[in-house]
Amino acid sequence: MPAMLVLGIESSCDETGVALYDSGRGLLADAVHTQVEMHEAYGGVVPELASRDHIRRLAPLLRRVLAEADRRLEDIDAIAYTAGPGLAGALLVGASFAAALGFSRGIPVLPVHHLEGHLLSPLLSDEPPQFPFVALLVSGGHTQLMRVASVGHYELLGESLDDAAGEAFDKTAKLLGLGYPGGPALAKLAEDGRPGRFKLPRPMLRSPDLDFSFSGLKTAVLTAVRERPLTAEDRADLAHEFQEAVTEVLAAKALAALAACRLDRLVVAGGVGANRRLRERLDRRAARAGVRVFYPELALCTDNGAMIAFCGAQRLLAGAQTRSDGVFAVRPRWPLQEITGGD
Ligand code: KG4
Ligand code: ZN
Repeated sequence: MPAMLVLGIESSCDETGVALYDSGRGLLADAVHTQVEMHEAYGGVVPELASRDHIRRLAPLLRRVLAEADRRLEDIDAIAYTAGPGLAGALLVGASFAAALGFSRGIPVLPVHHLEGHLLSPLLSDEPPQFPFVALLVSGGHTQLMRVASVGHYELLGESLDDAAGEAFDKTAKLLGLGYPGGPALAKLAEDGRPGRFKLPRPMLRSPDLDFSFSGLKTAVLTAVRERPLTAEDRADLAHEFQEAVTEVLAAKALAALAACRLDRLVVAGGVGANRRLRERLDRRAARAGVRVFYPELALCTDNGAMIAFCGAQRLLAGAQTRSDGVFAVRPRWPLQEITGGD
């Protein structure tokens, strides 16, 4: 098949991502607009504001990637868009934009699963891992361990039964009076904290499965916050202990997943993958166990259009169904298991 130029569109939450991927030459351009500042004032993502902002950003971002890649609209061979999971209104913006553009140009349009995008994103990095590998996906919306055998073949090994790791970071940050998104702020505060002053549980650390649970941690922090007024030092110590608890469980289960699959490659994707303490723990344990950990560049870890364009290209090469009649659908809730072919 001749090389294809695929436009990727991501609008599932609070980042608008547009990218151009050439199946022969690789990623040509990738532009992301984050809405973090806009939602900051509200302490979290406001769905309606997110949708409206995606509408404003898509066309300018498309113009930008075309200019960066030195390509014209007519050069695009196919369009991939995030169809889910995510915020319904936000998804609809990207989906309708993709469908309209595909219809007007008469080119194939295909829906992409956001988590599949994340799972395959490491393949875009300078040092891509070989299949098969275990992926630890830790974002604001998901905490999952997956066995990735090849494109389209994913096995869910374990996941959070309640809050996602990033969500736990964000909610705990809020309890400690930090802004949104709280993860990076909490991690920074934790650096000043001292160990041993607070003791939080390590949820499901010793459970025989590969699942997680983080909502209890947030409740434990809430209890500590309510017990007495916290000084700045107390808050740093509590942040420290919270980060210790989350990263200990994540690292232990990731290593357990590798052992269970008898694999020696771990890929970390999602915003929480930026956490320094998590990386430290994973690296130390990996060195002991003789496994290698891959951390794709941060721009690929967080939401972006590049992973959607890349995933779309892989699916197209594998003969995925497409349409160019302007009809589209989104799946705000869409289990990844529905699109996997097993091992
Ligand atoms: O993957 P991502 O950018 O967006 C999605 O949720 O899809 O992940 C964002 C999440 C947020 O919850 C944010 O607080 C968290 O990643 N995060 C961090 C750090 N940087 C981002 N959590 C802990 N430590 C960090 N350094
Ligand atoms: Zn994401």
